[in-house]
Amino acid sequence: MKWHILGAGAIGNLFATRLLQAGQNVSLILRQPKSDGYYQLHCLEGKARRTYSLPTQSASATETISNLLITTKAYDTETALASVSSRLTPDTTILLLQNGMGQHDAVLQRYPSANLWAGVTTAGAWRPNPDELICVAAGETHIGPLNTHATQLPVGWAEQVPAPTYKQDIQTALWRKLAINCAINPLTALHGCHNGALIENPGLYQQMQLICAELDTLTRALDIPLFATDLIDQAANVAQATAGNRSSMLEDITHGRPTEIEFITGHVCQQADQLGIDLPCNKALLSQVRALSAT
Ligand code: PAF
Repeated sequence: MKWHILGAGAIGNLFATRLLQAGQNVSLILRQPKSDGYYQLHCLEGKARRTYSLPTQSASATETISNLLITTKAYDTETALASVSSRLTPDTTILLLQNGMGQHDAVLQRYPSANLWAGVTTAGAWRPNPDELICVAAGETHIGPLNTHATQLPVGWAEQVPAPTYKQDIQTALWRKLAINCAINPLTALHGCHNGALIENPGLYQQMQLICAELDTLTRALDIPLFATDLIDQAANVAQATAGNRSSMLEDITHGRPTEIEFITGHVCQQADQLGIDLPCNKALLSQVRALSAT
């Protein structure tokens, strides 16, 4: 079977290599596909170094898309999908593996007959240059259906190493990742600090506590079981485990790119508004990051 991939960043490239190793054909859809149709990716994971030939094509190619992995930034989802919509079949499998929430509902509304899946991953990878991928954490990946009653992972996913976990209730997994992103990303982006600073600096830790307490209130009202303990404990663990990392939002701000704030803090503030719940700390962060992104 073949997977097309929209979103050729580190995570898109990482899962392209995992799909290839799992015996799938892949093609990365690029704005500027390579003239000879593929590129060499040197992949470093621990001491293992492997080179992959990754096929590429443009969005305007004519090949039908049966299985589509989307690893774009959340805000690019709809435009990226629209660029290949004429190539989808009524029952194309679409798997969204991204940060943030909100884009899933938009895709559900626009492509109701597709087999829609969502996933979250803690895999960590970065690309020092376009030909090289450094995988720093194999991570855990959870995948589950958004609009079907499928009970098995989509084709080519169970065979991957490490194999993702099938989650019938993917919404809870999405909320858990969203809550961690709300706790870490905006603060690190605003203060220009590594994740570890959030537990080392008492002032930042206090802010993270307030953000987490608001999210605990909201998710309780929404009946979403976040974690066995308060969110702050989990967020502090992630900040500790990724102490030396720069969050994706800090990277976006640093490189002058749009941020995913509307799909992270923006999404929780919107949900809270609908329930009439006030989230003053999260709202303040939302406007501060908006202001920063606009400059
Ligand atoms: O978006 C990110 O950077 C990551 O999801 C996380 C968990 C905040 C770690 O840096």
